[in-house]
Amino acid sequence: MSDRSQLIETGKPFKFDAERDAEFERLVKRYPTRESMILPALWLTQEQEGWVSAEAIAYIADRIGTYAAKVFEAATFYTMYHLKPMGQYHICVCRTLSCWLREKQNIIDFLAEEIGVRPGEISDDGRFSLEEVECLGHCGTAPVVQVNGEFHEEMNVEKMKTLLAGLE
Ligand code: FES
Repeated sequence: MSDRSQLIETGKPFKFDAERDAEFERLVKRYPTRESMILPALWLTQEQEGWVSAEAIAYIADRIGTYAAKVFEAATFYTMYHLKPMGQYHICVCRTLSCWLREKQNIIDFLAEEIGVRPGEISDDGRFSLEEVECLGHCGTAPVVQVNGEFHEEMNVEKMKTLLAGLE
């Protein structure tokens, strides 16, 4: 398992783009306290950058008006937040029981062969990264794959082939 206690510095300041900035302001009105915005703000960051850097953690803390340590704690605790750059297409394959029983391994093996990445790796061209994750909450339609957060259910190798072919 990778070390999730290390943040990467980019050396460049981070801030939300106009779209995320507006979304942050819209959401902050709906939450009881500004600190409740830590998870949504991390999510907005990841949507914008694909991952969460040390500068982003500092920005979020400042924007919310809390300690960077609290934002860091949340970012490092929840594995859905990426603490390093990922591929243009980040593929998550569920490895928990239902998906395991319904042969998620065939999908993993196919991806290793087809795009040359194993779980935890990024392809040489930076297009794909692959991660095995715990239950994605759609066990009834296992095996489940996510690509950049979008769910694909009842997957198999053939469907994965079609899905990859459709990615630009
Ligand atoms: S076990 Fe895979 S989605 Fe729940």
